[in-house]
Amino acid sequence: MITPITGFSKLSKQEKVDWLVATYFNGNISSGLVLEQYWSKYEQLQDLHDGFSENTVSNYYVPFGIAPNFLINDTLYAIPMAVEESSVVAAASKAAKFWLDRGGFKATVLGTLKSGQVHITYAGASEVMVDFFAFAKAELLQSLDSINASMEKRGGGIQSLELVDKTSAMAGYYQLHATFETRDAMGANFINTTLEQLATTFRSLAQNYPGFENTQPEVVMSILSNYVPDCTVHVQVSCPVDEIGTINGVSGADFARKFVQAIQIATVEPYRAVTHNKGIMNGIDAVVLATGNDFRAVEAGVHAYAARDGQYRSLTQARVEDGDFVFEATFPLALGTVGGMTSLHPLSKIAMELLGNPTAADLMKITAVAGLAQNFAAIHSLVTTGIQAGHMKMHINNMLEQIGANPTEKEALKKEFANKTPSFASLKESLAAQRNK
Ligand code: MEV
Repeated sequence: MITPITGFSKLSKQEKVDWLVATYFNGNISSGLVLEQYWSKYEQLQDLHDGFSENTVSNYYVPFGIAPNFLINDTLYAIPMAVEESSVVAAASKAAKFWLDRGGFKATVLGTLKSGQVHITYAGASEVMVDFFAFAKAELLQSLDSINASMEKRGGGIQSLELVDKTSAMAGYYQLHATFETRDAMGANFINTTLEQLATTFRSLAQNYPGFENTQPEVVMSILSNYVPDCTVHVQVSCPVDEIGTINGVSGADFARKFVQAIQIATVEPYRAVTHNKGIMNGIDAVVLATGNDFRAVEAGVHAYAARDGQYRSLTQARVEDGDFVFEATFPLALGTVGGMTSLHPLSKIAMELLGNPTAADLMKITAVAGLAQNFAAIHSLVTTGIQAGHMKMHINNMLEQIGANPTEKEALKKEFANKTPSFASLKESLAAQRNK
């Protein structure tokens, strides 16, 4: 039986691995060696990575790939993508090439405002809370002066502060709802520090407020919101239907018609919408991760946005209008290009450099383009050949590895399956046949 451990975090990395081997791997040293194999021989780099998180025992590699030839607002980008799923980078590159020859991607930032709330409960009359907020607002804002100073210098800072009465949703529930401009920072720390200061000032002012003599409000929590419907970027591609050309044996006109239908289906049908948007996130997450941004925050915000009218829908739209095929999307993306992982992780720094050290607004555009391109590539395959042909061709390396083919056998099997869709069964059969020769 395994007994709980105390002081695990105090053990050295080697001691942690040894404990894991002894406790969870029956003393099998090879499991420990797998963990150690991934330690970097560059000590400084390893120390840096160990410092990112707690209780680290190894590094978890994700491929860092490049999708070149992205023409965005007339600038050519090679987009870094960190993703483990085969065919994502290939699909992005294919979409980039297709649109490179048709005018490229147009991207526009629509807004950069983020928000956060101090969540409060108060059992008294709402007029008292309203009066208190009117009395306290200037002082609440004033208490932020020193926190705001450097952000204000960069043209950012708190933009608004309002009291929101949420009592119809939950008895006694109010918010201080604040909006923020955080320039090139994602801004989570700035926003949370600001909100906690607001909460502190709120508490101290409330304590001595005569209206609250009998019933004191209580601050429940203060935290930024990862829902960012006012921090959005619009991205679009378009070309005359005549210029689409024949795609996988399908005429340009039929392709455009089926493409539009596919998007309509994802707009009205949540089962399809989730997979459709997952494909978009293949592109968005890969850039978010490569650039050291917080993909969980982006994921949460994007999916909430996809359901903003009460039903989960496609994030992309498509139409044929005056003979033009138009494909577009608006994505909520709170990203940073300074601070946090973006400037700590050496590969994120390289990713930023590769993108010309973009502003956060530029990174929003690039990331949104990767999402739209990924969706284009997915629908492109889905309404013509289906996705398995291309996907399995990319996935074949993983499958060959799993069935234990050696390098020579891998090459032979890849040749044999160049024009057919591989499955585990068919690959195993061909491998056995090869070995019996
Ligand atoms: C696979 O990772 C993503 C797709 O399923 C997206 C889609 O269906 O649109 C291909």
